[in-house]
Amino acid sequence: MPTVSMTVNGKQVSGEVEGRTLLVQFLRENLHMTGTHVGCDTSQCGACVVHVNGDSMKSCTLLAVQADGTDVTTIEGLADGDTLHPMQEAFRDNHGLQCGFCTPGMVMSAVDLVKKNPKASEHEIREWLEGNICRCTGYHNIVKSIQQAQQTM
Ligand code: FES
Ligand code: FES
Repeated sequence: MPTVSMTVNGKQVSGEVEGRTLLVQFLRENLHMTGTHVGCDTSQCGACVVHVNGDSMKSCTLLAVQADGTDVTTIEGLADGDTLHPMQEAFRDNHGLQCGFCTPGMVMSAVDLVKKNPKASEHEIREWLEGNICRCTGYHNIVKSIQQAQQTM
């Protein structure tokens, strides 16, 4: 079986995987980092979004072997100890979540958006979130959360 090595949340990790192992499976099953969720098997829901070399990516669309040598950040790596990332604070302040299933992917996508387009309009925020499905919130408070984080990030 191939061995893959990568940096996850600042730490060097490695493990044996099958050729078909997805990055999200490697994170959840090999590293036991279950903050990254799996909400579909069709690459539609966005619950699995992480950052790979600084870009948000659906970790169910990438094989673990394709992520060999990359720098991965997951939802577990966003807070600084007990201090939440400004995007996490904003989701908490604005009730940007209900059941929370979509939230890790939503937050990781949102952080990438604000980094790339700090002044994104409401329309651009909604467009960016097209790859992230939330079945609870109706998106309104998620958009408000991201607008707050635009001021605080
Ligand atoms: S698990 Fe649904 S898009 Fe990755
Ligand atoms: S908060 Fe439940 S799916 Fe988004």
